[in-house]
Amino acid sequence: MALRSSRFLSSRNGVPADRRPTAPRAPGTNPVHIVGAGPGDPDLLTVKARRVLEQAEVVVYDRLVSPAILALIPATAERLFVGKATHNHSKTQDEINALLIARAEEGRRVVRLKGGDPFVFGRGGEEALHLAQAGIVFEIVPGLSAATGCLAAAGIPLTHRGLAGVAHLASGHTLEDGRLAVDWAKLSDPQSTIVIYMGLATIDRIAAALMTGGLAASTPAAAIENGTLPAERRLRSTLGAISRDLRDQEFASPTLIVIGPVVALAEILSGETSAGAEDQMSRPRARAIER
Ligand SMILES: C[S@@+](CC[C@H](N)C(=O)[O-])C[C@H]1O[C@@H](n2cnc3c(N)ncnc32)[C@H](O)[C@@H]1O
Repeated sequence: MALRSSRFLSSRNGVPADRRPTAPRAPGTNPVHIVGAGPGDPDLLTVKARRVLEQAEVVVYDRLVSPAILALIPATAERLFVGKATHNHSKTQDEINALLIARAEEGRRVVRLKGGDPFVFGRGGEEALHLAQAGIVFEIVPGLSAATGCLAAAGIPLTHRGLAGVAHLASGHTLEDGRLAVDWAKLSDPQSTIVIYMGLATIDRIAAALMTGGLAASTPAAAIENGTLPAERRLRSTLGAISRDLRDQEFASPTLIVIGPVVALAEILSGETSAGAEDQMSRPRARAIER
């Protein structure tokens, strides 16, 4: 269901006055669809995302949208790449916001296509706020985020009864002054899962902070590069060694890093090794977590 901007922001809490919605400009205008493309495998697109994409007249897309998903865009549609990589932005966020508003005001069917879920480290919320402020009708189409899509596909449950009852999704980014944006030591809970987006450049500092906070160096850790795509690579390691292993094996973006006891389950749940699975399941610890 398309939301008029006024419904989207029905609660005024936390929305600055200059961001509060005005009335939609042209009743009946096509909504801008802000669509999550999932982690990359086109079979993991939602049915709705695929339908909206196949009807698009303009598609504004990011760097992480896979070629197989771009192939679903109609040949007649205008394609606009606005991808960002660290220190290399093809368009500023202001330019992207202005572009979306301009195309929507032309009355065309606009899709803003983003990797994963638009509301998980995807700036989808910011873009939706700008559309709301401009009185543009929009609709969010959720996608499978890397944390759920890549991990499940690799046999790593985000949570697992008896092992991890909490999952943190965190960005490895630094603040402008170079400090890590997250207080990692506070996340050092051995019964949780920590999923790190955009963490390749800072994993050495993050791992050190988690160990300072009390997490053992032997805590299982893993990384998934190009998750769910043909070029996918996986790495299994430990908190103490993950930084060195990622460097040695030259992992590159996009890579998702995961730390916590659930990683150990991949040995069985990834389906990579059937031999020994019975063994694993009969170990006291594994039996305990299956209860
Ligand atoms: C700007 S964030 C976008 C996240 C996206 N909105 C989501 O929900 O997955 C980009 C980061 O997501 C992670 N990521 C996204 N897709 C991935 C994939 N297919 N494989 C591994 N990591 C991925 C990486 O950490 C990457 O640096």
